[in-house]
Amino acid sequence: MLARVRSAAVFGIDAYLVDVETDIANGIPTFATVGLPQGAVKEGRERVYAALANTGFTFPLKRITVNLAPADIRKDGSAFDLPIAVGILAATEQISPERLGRVAVLGELGLEGAIRPVRGALPVALATRAAGLEALVLPRENLPEAGVVSGVRVLGAGNLAELADFLDGKAELTEASVDLTALFAERTRDDVDFAEVKGQAHAKRALEVAAAGGHNILMIGPPGSGKTMLARRIPTILPKMSLEEALETTKIHSVAGVLPLGESLVARRPFRAPHHTISDAGLIGGGSYPRPGEVSLAHSGVLFLDELPEFRKNVLEVLRQPMEDGVVTIARAVMSLTYPARFMLAAAMNPCPCGYFGDTQHNCVCGPLGVERYLARVSGPLLDRIDLHLEVPAVKYRALADQGGGEPSEAVRERVDRARAVQRERFTTRPGVYAVTDRDHTPRALGAGVSPHSQDRAHHRRSRGSGLARIAARERGDPVPQPRPPGIGVRE
Ligand SMILES: Nc1ncnc2c1ncn2[C@@H]1O[C@H](COP(=O)(O)OP(=O)(O)OP(=O)(O)O)[C@@H](O)[C@H]1O
Ligand SMILES: [Mg+2]
Repeated sequence: MLARVRSAAVFGIDAYLVDVETDIANGIPTFATVGLPQGAVKEGRERVYAALANTGFTFPLKRITVNLAPADIRKDGSAFDLPIAVGILAATEQISPERLGRVAVLGELGLEGAIRPVRGALPVALATRAAGLEALVLPRENLPEAGVVSGVRVLGAGNLAELADFLDGKAELTEASVDLTALFAERTRDDVDFAEVKGQAHAKRALEVAAAGGHNILMIGPPGSGKTMLARRIPTILPKMSLEEALETTKIHSVAGVLPLGESLVARRPFRAPHHTISDAGLIGGGSYPRPGEVSLAHSGVLFLDELPEFRKNVLEVLRQPMEDGVVTIARAVMSLTYPARFMLAAAMNPCPCGYFGDTQHNCVCGPLGVERYLARVSGPLLDRIDLHLEVPAVKYRALADQGGGEPSEAVRERVDRARAVQRERFTTRPGVYAVTDRDHTPRALGAGVSPHSQDRAHHRRSRGSGLARIAARERGDPVPQPRPPGIGVRE
């Protein structure tokens, strides 16, 4: 007997449908999986065997062949356990094949027949909808994540017996019902705010300019001056995410397996702060089946490199290409994958190893050579890509003890939004000029024929700062600076 179960696998941040064909023939008992299965898929045989037996089904002692079509793409992960088990049940007529043709199935099996969560549920739900299938059955824990996709029924099963009853038409499964608009509104609230930062008016202003233009920023200052604190609050002044952006970002987090269980949508701009011992594969993405790295997890948000000179040099160097292109391509012998990586880079460092060079309250013990060596750990080309270099001096005790809070993030965000609107309006008709848009908060080309030359780069950065300058001038009642021709910097 032959059975065909629809399933799906993730490739990059998208998914494609996979047909799991199971053939059961007479002969010496064997269980072969073909179609380029990798480690976890091959091991699935043992889980399927135990899960079927422990759920009370009969495991056929015959010649079983499972084919994963298309057979020329490597398949990894444990999500094929469930479709393989269902295929065996259908091929041995232990369940009815009637409902099978209209649903896609995926999930990992436990030995006792429980269905465990898998990575990439969101891209799979999108692929199922695109293929015109009626429903998707996946682990119950993945319901909140896959449930944000409308236009396809998303059903959750807790164990193999429940799924078998559903396929036989004896019972129904839990269906995801997610009110996307309400969820989106609730999730966009931030848990930190700029109002908590005392003093540091110039630093806040610089971060506002950086947010308005999607500029990368480097903060230099003594220990405890609030660099990390300021950086954590950058996402709260960036424009709110659009639903489209949120879905794209969620797809990356889902594929990487970092979306917390029960979490359905990344609706706040990500803030990723990898530790400085990170490897280049951790930052850029990697593994034999390449997974997204920190640059992709920070997509549409902020990548924060705290203690910048402590990062290994080769790790920082790999950042250069994704910072330019907004995508990162990871090539391995098996396959080459491209992940989005459009982020705003924020970095922080002390001015010298002891941290107090230039500080008015402490003496620096490093000496000029020590300071120079420390600063030289960050390469020139990387610094060239960081538009704003900002000194963050320590705040005086009196200012810290002051009860009055600063301006809330929401007020700053409003100005940033308006600055971006100005940029969009100004640059839509100017081909070859970068401007931040609603979709990406970082620079992108508006119009055709853009070449990312370093000269262009410098000019585009200057242009992007000017929207905010005009708004600030208007608020102060000063004359409003007009856009200047290329090559002349715009200053506030
Ligand atoms: N301007 C400020 N307003 C309120 N609290 C502040 C301010 N600056 C610093 N702090 C407090 O000091 C703590 C230390 O600040 P933070 O960790 O951001 O310093 P840092 O500049 O990153 O230091 P390091 O160089 O040692 O990493 C913060 O958690 C915060 O509680
Ligand atoms: Mg810090």
